[in-house]
Amino acid sequence: MATAKAHTNIALVKYWGKKDQELIIPQTDSLSLTLDEFYTTTRVNFDQELTADQVMINGQQLAGPAAAKVTHLLDIVRQRSGLSARARVDSQNHVPTAAGLASSASAFAALAGAASRAAGLQLSRRELSRLARRGSGSATRSIYGGLVEWQAGHDDQTSYALPIMEQVDFGIEMIAILVDTHKKKVSSRFGMQQSVSTSPYYRVWPEVVARDMAAVKKAIAAQDIDQIGAIAEENALRMHALTLSADPGFTYFDSDTITAMTIVRELRENGVNCYFTMDAGPNVKVIYDQVNRKAVYSTLAAQFGTDRLVVAKPGPGIEIWND
Ligand code: ADP
Ligand code: DP6
Repeated sequence: MATAKAHTNIALVKYWGKKDQELIIPQTDSLSLTLDEFYTTTRVNFDQELTADQVMINGQQLAGPAAAKVTHLLDIVRQRSGLSARARVDSQNHVPTAAGLASSASAFAALAGAASRAAGLQLSRRELSRLARRGSGSATRSIYGGLVEWQAGHDDQTSYALPIMEQVDFGIEMIAILVDTHKKKVSSRFGMQQSVSTSPYYRVWPEVVARDMAAVKKAIAAQDIDQIGAIAEENALRMHALTLSADPGFTYFDSDTITAMTIVRELRENGVNCYFTMDAGPNVKVIYDQVNRKAVYSTLAAQFGTDRLVVAKPGPGIEIWND
């Protein structure tokens, strides 16, 4: 039996599209910030008595395709370790599930950590990152804390994450605006595939990402939060342009998403520097320097209320322990 705790991450340069859907090899590199406030804790217990894997998330039994994704990762672990027993998986999400707050990132990183340890495998962090990738692409990056790069690579061996800066103490923070914490209608898995196969703009996305990756790494080295935020905001808008331009077109935005984007732009016009990013859901994450926290928080609170705001700081990498 083993337990792992992994934090979610929010991409500053997004992963949006796969080269290989079975192995989850992305079309491009990506770069994220791991957050302290949102995480998943997962315990895995392999048990000869079980006839099927049993997966609980927040006390609710998982079924259908969501449970199949967990079994898929467990099968990889069983195959590597030579174990045949089914597993009891008990997971707590301290993050809204499937609402664009990266529950799948923390979930599959924690599952990879707990399942591999419970099966007696001693994996390096790079190997863990590759294993987490098989569950969900963004989970590749949640093995590490702070600022993390996922190198696309070209096969299972070469596609993994690397830490860029694990201790991030230059003041970057994010406020998550919980516009809607219900499960989204279009999963990231389906949405990105639609974008790859039908958006006429997809062919320029790899160029956009290559340029943004180089620029954001420079900005990180210079600890330039404004530059990091500006790159992240533009990159997010271009990712979402790929959903709007798919056939049929779709969007993860709702009216509150647009309202939040407008407020961020107004704050900037008034001299309070902050930037937005959105993932595969309507929730908005606002990036800023902690010196601006009060001004950003109070302005967002006036519109959305404090109950819907979470201030998040850079968070740590995965922790794994034997129970
Ligand atoms: P999100 O924006 O939350 O990452 P995704 O659609 O990418 O949304 O992923 C959500 C999916 O991740 C869920 O539908 C479920 O299949 C899986 N998931 C979330 N939390 C867990 C968990 N703790 N254990 C196993 N799978 C999970
Ligand atoms: C918009 O990692 O959830 O959050 O690999 O199919 O499980 P799968 O997709 P997932 O997609 C994340 C998309 C994103 C951008 C990002 O995190 O880089």
